[in-house]
Order: sequence, then C-alpha cells, then structure tokens
Amino acid sequence: MDEIENFNKKIKKILITQQEINCAVEDAAKWINGIYDKNPIVLISVLNGSFIFAADLFRRITVPCQIDFIKAQSYYNSTVSSGNISITQDIHTDVSKFNVVIVEDIVDTGRTLKEITKIIRERNPISLNVITLLDKPSRRETDFAPDKSLFTIPDVFVVGYGMDCGEYYRNLPYIAEYDQQL
Ligand code: IMP
Ligand code: MG
Repeated sequence: MDEIENFNKKIKKILITQQEINCAVEDAAKWINGIYDKNPIVLISVLNGSFIFAADLFRRITVPCQIDFIKAQSYYNSTVSSGNISITQDIHTDVSKFNVVIVEDIVDTGRTLKEITKIIRERNPISLNVITLLDKPSRRETDFAPDKSLFTIPDVFVVGYGMDCGEYYRNLPYIAEYDQQL
C-alpha cells in the first residue's frame, strides 16, 4: 500500500502532455514522409525506451516502410549512466538496401546513439537519419547531434511514453518529471 502511494508520488509533474506528443509525432511523420518519397525505409527502434514512440510514428508513415529493433545497454536499473555501450540485440535487416531512420526516446550524453550510428553507418545504408523524441543537450558528453528532435528538455530525469525508471512507468501516456529525491 505504502509502496503504491510512493510510486505515484514520484511523478513530480507532467512535462509534455499526450496531446502535445500526438501533435509532435504527427509533424515528425510528415517530415519523414516528405524526405523519402521513393526509396523504402526501415525504422530502427532503439529498445526498450523508443518502442511506443516508434509504434506511433510507424503508423503515421505513408511511404513503404519496415521496422526493426536494436537494443543497447547503457543504463542499469538506475538513473545513472554507466559510460559503456554494448549492443545486446542486433537488427536483422540488410540496411544497404534501405534508407534508415534510427528512432530513439532520448539523447542524453549521446554515447548510445554515437555507438549505434557508427555501427549502422559501417553497414552502408542508402541514407541515415536519427530522430529522437527528446533531447537533453545540457547533458551531452559526445559530439553526437540528432537530425530531428521533437522536444528539447532541461536536465531532469523523465519517465513515461516508453521511458522508465527501473523498468516502471513506461506505460504512462504522457512524459513526466521523476522525483529522484523521494
Ligand atoms: P545516452 O547514451 O547518455 O545518450 O543515454 C541514452 C539512453 O539513456 C536513452 O536511450 C534512455 O534510455 C536513457 N535515458 C537518458 N535520460 C533518461 C531519462 O531522463 N529518463 C529515462 N531514460 C533516460
Ligand atoms: Mg533509449
């Protein structure tokens, strides 16, 4: 009982509402639909955090499009980054036949996407773009920059719409600031 009470109390405030997310995802899909009018696309969703964003984006794409998934480990059940990135689940697509759009939930230090884009680029995709739902530029520790970011946020830890703390809160329909002190 106490645990459940604290569970909800840790949601400090809503930063981005469901409606704001919907509008931004709609715009992002238009951006993709506008760039790739001929060649097939593969969205590469970076698991687990981007699965909801990728699913919503994917359903709004009107040009031929496949989806694949890659999993990288950088956060270990906490709000602190480990520094090392390892690919724990790879894609199955031959990206040399596709325009690739990597879909990420949030760019923080930039380490995860720097490593993933390096790996994908070495496989010679027809083209490569990176789209992220959120960007925390104040936390960057690499020179990585996404091609498109839907929202820029300050240095706060967020949960919801796919993003977690200790694997919980991913199912919140909005993006909220998480209280790390409580
Ligand atoms: P980076 O490698 O430091 O850019 O970290 C990227 C990954 O860390 C993201 O894909 C997220 O899974 C996770 N992450 C970074 N900031 C947050 C946050 O505020 N909430 C939840 N996950 C986060
Ligand atoms: Mg992620």
